[in-house]
Amino acid sequence: MAPYIPEDKLLEIKEAAAIDEVVGQYVKLTRRGRNLVGLCPFHPDSKPSFTVSPERGIFYCFGCGAGGNVIAFLMQHLRLSFPEAVEELARRYHIPLSLKDVGPEGARQAKKRRTLQELHAEAAAFYQRVLASAAGAGAREYLARRGLTPEVIQAFQLGYAPPEWEAMTRHLQARGFPLELATEAGLVLPRASGGFYDRFRDRVMFPIHDRQGRVVAFGGRVLGEGEPKYLNSPESPLFAKGRLFYGLPQAAAALRRDDVALVVEGYLDLLSLRVHGIEPVVATLGTALTREHVRLLKSQVSRVVLVFDGDAAGARAMLRAFPLFAAESLAVRVLVLPAGQDPDDYVRTQGPDLFRRPWETAQPWFAYLLDTLLASYGREVEGVMRIIAELKPFLAAVADPVEQDLWLRQAAARLEVEEAGLRRSLAQAVPPAVSRLLPAQHLSVSLERNFLKWILSQPEAVTPAELEEWLDEFEDPELRELMERILAVTRRYGRLDLSLLLEQVEEDGQRQLLLALAFGEEEFDGVSAGPLRQEWRNAFLRRRLKKVQAHLRHKLAQAAAEAAAGELVALQLQKQEVDRQLAALMEHGCAGGERG
Ligand code: UTP
Ligand code: MN
Repeated sequence: MAPYIPEDKLLEIKEAAAIDEVVGQYVKLTRRGRNLVGLCPFHPDSKPSFTVSPERGIFYCFGCGAGGNVIAFLMQHLRLSFPEAVEELARRYHIPLSLKDVGPEGARQAKKRRTLQELHAEAAAFYQRVLASAAGAGAREYLARRGLTPEVIQAFQLGYAPPEWEAMTRHLQARGFPLELATEAGLVLPRASGGFYDRFRDRVMFPIHDRQGRVVAFGGRVLGEGEPKYLNSPESPLFAKGRLFYGLPQAAAALRRDDVALVVEGYLDLLSLRVHGIEPVVATLGTALTREHVRLLKSQVSRVVLVFDGDAAGARAMLRAFPLFAAESLAVRVLVLPAGQDPDDYVRTQGPDLFRRPWETAQPWFAYLLDTLLASYGREVEGVMRIIAELKPFLAAVADPVEQDLWLRQAAARLEVEEAGLRRSLAQAVPPAVSRLLPAQHLSVSLERNFLKWILSQPEAVTPAELEEWLDEFEDPELRELMERILAVTRRYGRLDLSLLLEQVEEDGQRQLLLALAFGEEEFDGVSAGPLRQEWRNAFLRRRLKKVQAHLRHKLAQAAAEAAAGELVALQLQKQEVDRQLAALMEHGCAGGERG
């Protein structure tokens, strides 16, 4: 159950937070008629099924059925609770929202996140100050030796944790931060004897930012040799390694500009490339690429280049990422560096040319995969059989059938086997087509459904009084319930606001139904409301008359059987009148489909 947030606040937020603007930060959208479309961020999508209606403030995916208003989008995309999503939007659009607005549990969570954010901002500023101070001389020297410039150090807010046991502990305490929370953030550790001490000591500090540019974690590197080389913040409510890249907000503009992302593995690889003017770079945080990573990339660019250092172990680990890209239909290539060199080593010795036009320089992932497998297993029969077996899961993961076919042909050619044979041998590995989630019945044509489609597509066309009148015509219990809600929302706000309506439909099936209707083919575009309104009236009236007609027919048959002459005549007269009215109506045609 959603916690209570005052309605005027919700309205204010929704007025301010245009859905196309908010969604547009995560999904590349292009205009199609009244709507915007893009690749769905919630399921592997190869043609744009994801639709946003800026006018109505809602989104819907025809592929997976995800949909809702701007708050629902943020909840689903950033995995926020309702109050967190509201709070996030309020923050972005500078709408004051007090904690009592979000209910006790929401308030507690929101407050904790906020305190954690403040804590990280404070810690980052502290480390930066120490780096700039006398105590930071050694660290500055180390960074200079690593080739980092003051500009890059500044842009990435690098810092230094002094070689003391309680510098951060005391600092945070003095600022009034609860040290338990600092423990959860991994900045301090509790002592067995009570009290706390610093977790990061004598390390160069790399703040890790979330997509909004807030510091949410740190990586700390020893100066020179030492174990562990890097110490990282633990996962926290703000930080999940598998969902963030190092350097993402700093790369955002370049990613958009170049429509390509270079993915490297280390903090210093990324920073070193930046020093050499290569900007569209993000780095993983010591983990393998996840599906979330791939989706995150997909929201920013349409092409990705994975940079591998030449050693086999690293390359093998990266291979596992290919199916994720294939499943998301995100184009990916690989840039393989000479054995034993990481991007930092490479760029410092050979310069940045290789990375300047990375998409053009890189190799298609499938060709790389084939090369790697051929290098491992050779061209003997056993080797080729092994290679085919290993290719299966990769090919099966390719969501786009055309792409799958193209790779398959290439594999047959490279492996010098019959294409048809390879196809047969791979056949059982190909997954069945994803079944559509929308039940067909929801799209079936009926008068009531079509009517709902109409008012949902032209919400300004009907008044509450009219709606009330229409409501009486509704017979399908599910659709009638929807009509009742529509009526309630329209009465309350003086207009049919779909985004607010969605807020009140909590049951999943009903939401889906509502969205499917709202985004159904827009048959009513360009038809003005007045004539349409009349047609709907006729259509409903016709339906009613037909029912009466059927009923009279039945009664007539009965009366005839019982030889009740008087009744027979009266019924016949009634039926004639109904027939006449129906015939008159038929001349008008009807708006609602259902002609039969
Ligand atoms: P590398 O060992 O390749 O280090 O780790 P690097 O990035 O080249 O750093 P330098 O050049 O030796 O200074 C790659 C990434 O793996 C993670 C870090 O994110 C690092 O940037 N890592 C590595 C850790 O988290 N912990 C470690 O102890 C080592
Ligand atoms: Mn390195």
